[in-house]
Amino acid sequence: MKKIVSLLCAFLAAGAAVQAQEIPAYLDAGRPIETRIEDALSRMTLREKIAVVHAQSKFSSPGVPRLGIPEVWTTDGPHGIRPEVLWDEWNQAGWSNDSCMAFPALTCLAATWNPEMSELYGRSIGEEARYREKDVLLGPGVNIYRTPLNGRNFEYMGEDPYLASRMVVPYVQGVQRNGVAACVKHYALNNQEVNRHSTNVIVDDRTLYEIYLPAFKAAVQEGGAWAIMGSYNLYKNQHACHNRYLLQDILRGEWGFDGVVISDWGGTHDTAEAVRNGLDMEFGTWTNGLSRGAGNAYDNYHLAAPYLRLIESGEIGTEELDAKVRNVLRLIFRTAMNPARPYGSFNSEAHSEAACRIGQEGVVLLKNEHATLPIAAERVRKIVVVGENAVKMMTVGGGSSSLKARYEIAPLDGIRRYVGDRAEVAYARGYVGDASGEYNGVKTGQQLKDDRTPAELIAEAVEMARGADYVIFIGGLNKSAHQDCEDSDRAGLELPYGQDDVIRALAQANKNLVVVNISGNAVAMPWIAEVPAVVQGWYLGSECGRVLASVLFGEVNPSGKLPFTFPAALEDVGAHREGQYPGIGRTDGSKITDERYDEGIFVGYRYADKNRLTPLFPFGHGLSYTSFRYGKPVADRTSMTAGETLRVSVPVTNVGDRAGAEVVQLYIRDVKSSVVRPVKELKGFCKLELAAGETKEAVFEIGRDALSFFDDIRHEWVAEPGRFEALVAASAADVRGKVAFELK
Ligand code: BGC
Repeated sequence: MKKIVSLLCAFLAAGAAVQAQEIPAYLDAGRPIETRIEDALSRMTLREKIAVVHAQSKFSSPGVPRLGIPEVWTTDGPHGIRPEVLWDEWNQAGWSNDSCMAFPALTCLAATWNPEMSELYGRSIGEEARYREKDVLLGPGVNIYRTPLNGRNFEYMGEDPYLASRMVVPYVQGVQRNGVAACVKHYALNNQEVNRHSTNVIVDDRTLYEIYLPAFKAAVQEGGAWAIMGSYNLYKNQHACHNRYLLQDILRGEWGFDGVVISDWGGTHDTAEAVRNGLDMEFGTWTNGLSRGAGNAYDNYHLAAPYLRLIESGEIGTEELDAKVRNVLRLIFRTAMNPARPYGSFNSEAHSEAACRIGQEGVVLLKNEHATLPIAAERVRKIVVVGENAVKMMTVGGGSSSLKARYEIAPLDGIRRYVGDRAEVAYARGYVGDASGEYNGVKTGQQLKDDRTPAELIAEAVEMARGADYVIFIGGLNKSAHQDCEDSDRAGLELPYGQDDVIRALAQANKNLVVVNISGNAVAMPWIAEVPAVVQGWYLGSECGRVLASVLFGEVNPSGKLPFTFPAALEDVGAHREGQYPGIGRTDGSKITDERYDEGIFVGYRYADKNRLTPLFPFGHGLSYTSFRYGKPVADRTSMTAGETLRVSVPVTNVGDRAGAEVVQLYIRDVKSSVVRPVKELKGFCKLELAAGETKEAVFEIGRDALSFFDDIRHEWVAEPGRFEALVAASAADVRGKVAFELK
């Protein structure tokens, strides 16, 4: 007993000693974050402050070692956690414990039209980032799909600002639940890859606010994003990474952003602008890979020695620097110094299941004549799979989103696993696309070289197709330059590598032909009338083959819908017919290319509607193995005031004989307006899971926001009184019912 008492006394004395040694406020997680920030700031030297506003390596910034404030580690994003790279190289470092889960590309996520899938995605990838000790995930991307040629569309969430806004918010929240910041990119107007560092976008305010900004605004205000990445292009002749209008006026001023503005890698070009216009952290400048290399690259960053010199010479004060450091410290306290953050997890079974579920909900059944799909595995003897994308690994390549995946189930493997010994699954190459398979030192290890001529490859495929019950062609684009790939745009809408010839030949040889298009972009399908079934397969990541097989064989009933229009021709896209894509070079000898977005707000289906164009497949389109009957939509009142909401509901019945899910879409039409408005705009959607024969109601709340346009003279959103229509639709080209109402 005596011993216990003396031990207790010793313990209490030690506690008192610790208490007496006061904990600095910035280390006290119990204190308000702003108090901690001010305390840390007051302890930092000028050089320490300069150090935290620029990188120290390819993906990290230094923190304040003297004060125990940790480094900030960033990672790509947005489909999985990038492999570790060497300190100042893009090349992978060769670690053996950094092979990640590859999730489906963001176009696929958008195609689920299911915010729950976004939350699952964000939470899962956030857990992977956290496990890998990353503080900032460089994603998600929400640049609007303006042209199908943009090489990076696969990393974004489609053409519609409302859809992208609804989908980005849960992703951001899911990531940040792990104490990892989501860095929403690329802010803003980065809608193409060609000339990405030198394109000066000219766009009117109405288009900017209605089309290109809403998803960023939602990510910031509703998602509470802790970071945002400036884009490469210019706007109003100023690079976006240090653009006064985008960063100071809109992001901080109008939206009240309190997170950190991170430059895109190599997107900073001017010290004074970066200092004054709100860039907080500079990454990727002058380092090997993007622009030029230098031995002491990091000291030469715009926000490094040149900044210090400006301060020391008195040309610039320290007010801006303190503001930047506050933002960086806020980021650190929210992430690396957040004692409550969980530990994350990596390559878990739960992550495989998440990747699989998201993929299964995102695959879009574009066409299905004569119920060609699903394939009844037990009733077929022989299936022939044709096409390079049936075997090519797609997680490697495409630019900064390239991954080193722990595993990737190729479509052919997925199909073989699913079918087992129920039927023979034979494979023919059909065409040779890009046989290479390496990105930044990550090698697929696949040997895809094939020297046969196109005629030989087609002859072989046709010969095999003739005797098969089903032919599944799996092609599309890939992650090589000028396909779905960063830093270059596509040359045209057509499928590359002579695939159209292969598909046509197969269609002649076998009427049970299914085409699976793997891409993040719309492609031309000149053979569409000859092919009974077409599936949009996206880039599906690690679980690709399993996802595709489950849909093709009907274990999963497809429920994805297109997040962008498949135009009938490139000329049917506003950016190409009316806009100045890819920009017009200046005659003053500068490298800048000006590009006016003359199509204005008429992007995607808004353009097709306005010009009465019939797309190949419209925005919002997607079939199911069952069918749905829409009842008559009703509104709970005939008029509303700007402060009220009107509720529209519509019963939807699954009239087929199997369970399925339908994405019910709500578009708003302003019947009469003082300004030109789109024929209709998406303002609501809901995904209903319906058992065979079941009926459920889709319910939408329509508020002032859904009725407003951006008045660029008054610089505010305006909802004009008058008549409106709520259109209930299965796609942008398939309106099933409408209800009229009035805004008083
Ligand atoms: C890309 C960013 C990416 C960064 C870091 C840039 O080239 O545009 O999206 O996050 O590199 O890899």
